[in-house]
Amino acid sequence: MERTAADAHVPGAQVPEGGPGGSGLMPGPLERAVYGLFVSSSLDLAARHGVFARLAEHGPSGTAELACALGLDEDTLGRLLTVLRAFGVLTADPRGRYSVPAASLPFLDPRESRYLGGFLRHLMESTTERLRRLDACLTLGRAGAEAALAEPLDEPFADLYRDAESTDRFLDAMWQLSFDVSAELVELAQLEGARHLVDVGGAGGPFAVAALLRHPGLRATVFDLPQVGPKLAETGAAYRLGERLSFSAGDFHRAELPAGDCLAFGYILSDWADDTCLDLLRKAYRACAPGGVVLVMDRLFDESGYLPPATAAMNLAMHVETQGRHRTGAHYLELLRAAGFTGCEVRHTSREKHLVLGRRAAGPGGAER
Ligand SMILES: C[S@@+](CC[C@H](N)C(=O)[O-])C[C@H]1O[C@@H](n2cnc3c(N)ncnc32)[C@H](O)[C@@H]1O
Repeated sequence: MERTAADAHVPGAQVPEGGPGGSGLMPGPLERAVYGLFVSSSLDLAARHGVFARLAEHGPSGTAELACALGLDEDTLGRLLTVLRAFGVLTADPRGRYSVPAASLPFLDPRESRYLGGFLRHLMESTTERLRRLDACLTLGRAGAEAALAEPLDEPFADLYRDAESTDRFLDAMWQLSFDVSAELVELAQLEGARHLVDVGGAGGPFAVAALLRHPGLRATVFDLPQVGPKLAETGAAYRLGERLSFSAGDFHRAELPAGDCLAFGYILSDWADDTCLDLLRKAYRACAPGGVVLVMDRLFDESGYLPPATAAMNLAMHVETQGRHRTGAHYLELLRAAGFTGCEVRHTSREKHLVLGRRAAGPGGAER
């Protein structure tokens, strides 16, 4: 039986799924806030070194077994696993063998489409670095911080696309974040009559691919920065989409958008301030065939204005990574209406990315797309 010193006071205890309450030293939410850094780091390291993949494939395993199978230092791994267990990310049986709770497995097993290892890595490597700039924003304001740091806070893509490895990592993270939920979004969008989807800033194609898989009569164009082209070509080949999936390289601030009867913005408008969103939506209106639709797919704050917690967290990241913010559904409805769309409505998925849909009124002939 493998036990660590930290386990000793709770022999064989099963940590409830969802994590323990406070230790008694301080309230649970405060304790998790103070020590969350250690949990995120441990989670990222465990994911990168295959701990969750191993547990998912081989079932419950102890520290020594995991360290041996993965070629890791047993002492360090033991401490890391102890953190994950103490905070409820892992459970352990009376023999000290660790497991991933069933509810977390779809997010931690790399074979699953909801696997979040890539997103986690992006948070740890890119976002963490950028969060250091918050202090300057807080004391000097954003404009003052940009002047003091002598760099723009809101041009992440030049940095993210600086080389092939970083480009790949970012686009993989976007795929992991967006592909799984896209099946739900495609259903909610009711694209049955659509013929040409234009996915603005569509990245490696998570939404476009989900739409093409669901609707055989549809073709899709991903409009994005040129660096994204090779990744989209790989995706198209992997899913054997041939000419149904094409790439159009461009800058949506400078160019008009390709014409289509469905214009999609997935995690795009949250990168930009309201006036830029309005410019983009007006371009979408011009590019959209009469009777066509625009799809805004993003995290939404609920009516409380501060929940869910993940939206609150990413809203802070937006402040140092982009010019944008997260918004409520009502806020997006206002933007869509201001750009000329009608019949606008919010449709919720079961996940963190939701749909706000607008329609371009059919022409005088009344032709729907
Ligand atoms: C946050 S990602 C969203 C990716 C994808 N739509 C999704 O939902 O997962 C933002 C995307 O916008 C693209 N993008 C950023 N600035 C752009 C610009 N000026 N013109 C075109 N695409 C741009 C990026 O390359 C990236 O693919």
